[in-house]
Amino acid sequence: MRLVLVGPPGAGKGTQAQYIASNLSIPKISTGDIFRANVSGGTELGKLAKEYMDRGDLVPDEVTIAMVRDRLSEDDAQDGFLLDGFPRNVPQAEILKKMLAEFGVALDIVLELVVDEDEVVRRLAGRRTCSQCGRIWHVDFDDKKDDVCDACGGSLYQRDDDKEETVRRRLEVYQEQTAPLITFYADEEILVGVDAAGPVEEVTGRAMEALAPYIG
Ligand code: AP5
Repeated sequence: MRLVLVGPPGAGKGTQAQYIASNLSIPKISTGDIFRANVSGGTELGKLAKEYMDRGDLVPDEVTIAMVRDRLSEDDAQDGFLLDGFPRNVPQAEILKKMLAEFGVALDIVLELVVDEDEVVRRLAGRRTCSQCGRIWHVDFDDKKDDVCDACGGSLYQRDDDKEETVRRRLEVYQEQTAPLITFYADEEILVGVDAAGPVEEVTGRAMEALAPYIG
């Protein structure tokens, strides 16, 4: 299964990616996670990406595409993958299509997580991420009173780009640059919308139902 998750910031892509990838035994490849690992590791890529991420803008395509190409060439991605956060605009989608064609494969499905803007703002305001295992939590929906990850005991942090002003910019960037992907993949006839409102397990159930016809 070669699958892309698309949806606005806070739609639940990272949350659903961890369950869907594990259910399908495929690697979850999140460009946001790779950039954040580089930022905390203090690499050159991290320093460059941080400038854009802190503003809520997209990291330049040539940097992001080279990074994804390297990751998709790794052994564990040869039999399938779930991409979270890539592609992020039509040029990235066109290059991904060409890149996969070079590997002799193609995307099977693009799942669009559909949720309204008030809900994504609520979700982002309360998001906490584990600094050790990367698991995503929410202060209200998961009733997190402390800053400790219940999965691994690591400490939880709030992402720098979840500040109100940056969230507003990320939502604008989504509308301007990422939303056109919906038409792009609808035209390719591989787009399936999933209602992403409601509890996490219900959304995962709907996503797995949508994927069922594509599971061999
Ligand atoms: P990235 O990390 O991809 O961020 P994003 O797309 O803005 O998405 P988020 O991670 O904010 O949200 P999500 O949909 O994963 O929601 P989550 O599951 O965490 O990108 C960050 C930055 O990196 C970009 O701004 C850009 O600068 C750069 N970048 C990344 N990829 C790039 C690319 N391809 N090209 C260029 N630049 C790129 O959920 C949010 C919260 O809601 C959590 O607290 C969660 O617990 C909660 N929640 C989730 N589902 C539910 C539910 N059903 N009910 C209640 N709460 C829920």
